[in-house]
Amino acid sequence: MIKPYLPAITIFLTVMSAQLGAAESNQKQAVATKAIGQLGQEMRKKLIESLQKNGPAGAIDVCAKDAPAISARIENELNVTIKRTSLRYRNPRNAPDAAEQHLLGALATAQSAGEKLPQGVTAFPNDRNRFYKTITMEQTCLKCHGDSTTMSEAVRKELAAIYPEDKAVGYKEGDFRGIISVTVK
Ligand code: HEC
Repeated sequence: MIKPYLPAITIFLTVMSAQLGAAESNQKQAVATKAIGQLGQEMRKKLIESLQKNGPAGAIDVCAKDAPAISARIENELNVTIKRTSLRYRNPRNAPDAAEQHLLGALATAQSAGEKLPQGVTAFPNDRNRFYKTITMEQTCLKCHGDSTTMSEAVRKELAAIYPEDKAVGYKEGDFRGIISVTVK
């Protein structure tokens, strides 16, 4: 007697678990969105404050020390891991892993082809726990990531001393810079 109901039950359970899966990934996306929003907001505030107070050379520490410290705090608070990564990275510690590299390549290709990149927090392809947001170069960023021949002497020297293999220069406003990559545990 139970047998005829089995397909219906199986379908019911499949639909339910798909819905639960979707709900869970929505929840994870919400956590990732919060983490990325917080990091972006706090970094922007620190960077602008420090640029005004200490000039670009003095603000290098914001990207070098404050970014990891702020990330670590958000990681603890929200139980996530956060990374800022790029194909052209300044600090080798920020180098992309295989999945990030693949995604960054696809995004860079899309942008060169004139496509609009995803603006919001987006899931990694084929990964329910990982999300990203694209980073675009703004005018303020160019003080430390722009053309190294027109960069302030102090910034150029300090960057060369700390990052001898710096790849994160030569950007223009509006260029695709990389992603903030968040894994929700
Ligand atoms: C005052 C100089 C300075 C400014 C201004 C600056 N950065 Fe950076 N940026 C750095 C330094 C230094 C690092 C290396 C940080 C580290 O050691 O992890 C870095 C690293 C990064 C990284 C991590 C990947 C990598 O290359 O190592 C991203 C992404 C990034 N910056 C984006 C930006 C964006 C976007 C802006 C503008 C909103 C910006 N930066 C403005 C100095 C700066």
